[in-house]
Amino acid sequence: MKYENFSAKKLQICAFFSNFAPKMDNLYRHLYHWYEINHRILPWRETEDPYAIWLSEIILQQTRVAQGMAYYMRFIARWPRVEDLAAADEAEVLREWQGLGYYSRARNLHKAAKQIVEQCTMNNVQCTKGSTICFPKTFEEIRALPGVGDYTAGAIASFAYNMPYPAVDGNVYRVVARLLDIDEAFDTSAGKKLFRKKIEELLDRENPRLFNSAIMEFGALHCTPVLGDACLSCPLQECCLGYAHGTAELLPVRKPRPKVRDRWFTYHIYLCGDETLIRRREEKDIWYHLYEFPCTEGQTDDKYPFTHILSHQKIHARFMVHRVQKMPEIPGTICIPWEDLNAYALSRLTLRALDTLPHKA
Ligand code: ADE
Repeated sequence: MKYENFSAKKLQICAFFSNFAPKMDNLYRHLYHWYEINHRILPWRETEDPYAIWLSEIILQQTRVAQGMAYYMRFIARWPRVEDLAAADEAEVLREWQGLGYYSRARNLHKAAKQIVEQCTMNNVQCTKGSTICFPKTFEEIRALPGVGDYTAGAIASFAYNMPYPAVDGNVYRVVARLLDIDEAFDTSAGKKLFRKKIEELLDRENPRLFNSAIMEFGALHCTPVLGDACLSCPLQECCLGYAHGTAELLPVRKPRPKVRDRWFTYHIYLCGDETLIRRREEKDIWYHLYEFPCTEGQTDDKYPFTHILSHQKIHARFMVHRVQKMPEIPGTICIPWEDLNAYALSRLTLRALDTLPHKA
């Protein structure tokens, strides 16, 4: 690119990198010092087991640390090694995942575990660390697992093997956008490319595990979306272009959100003695393979007491209880004892509704 085509902003970013070595050393020093004092003790940070780290990362894509912890502890206690998870039934895995949403993540987790085990058995690999199965060791092999994208592959490669790959989650995008005052949307393909390049340059190749953990934690705890007074006490102030230019609070920039589709569901809870009807969702739609009460779709009323937000859909739902002498015949449904409901993987919306229903509806 010709010099005159450079925007002032790009020149400033270049200036940041041109005094590179001392600036970077300062950045690392302040960041690591902050991390040492402030980081949370989390079980997946106390291990270098790639399986445990992978599991934590997939769970944490779904939820905050406080809630994810309970899921992580249950998964790791029940399936401590990748071969244990591979040997589980998909239904058990979905059941354990229940409440986290995005069930395709749980399905991919299980599929990937089976794939790892098959690959190892096929190659007859000898493994270490008490496991009979080897977890993939290169970035490319990790990235090729179902459900593993650039972020997760970078997190596993750096946290488990200390390999120099960035792990760029929402927290990291935010910190980097502010540090370098980048006002390009980070969630477009051009934006992702630009950020990736900048983060590759920022990455501490001598300490990738520490760098990724620290920058992620800094975004989660200090450089948060709403800054308040955080900049005033920020240990990275002197390295931060967003602070220098007064733009930090406005960053990062996102592309405009796609329009959300509204849907109206009426669930029918049939009760006949101690039994009820449920069905498994088989359509190529939301909540694939989860169970729910028979449902009709379409807006026929004004009152839908439940609202459930998915990434591109807003579900308005109501639940109607029908006490009947004889169960209706509804194709695709099964009749089960009410007490057995908790043995089936249910959507979070259905679980929320069940919480509000009086005992046995
Ligand atoms: N969110 C995603 N990955 C995380 C990790 N390893 N530690 C804390 N929060 C996270």
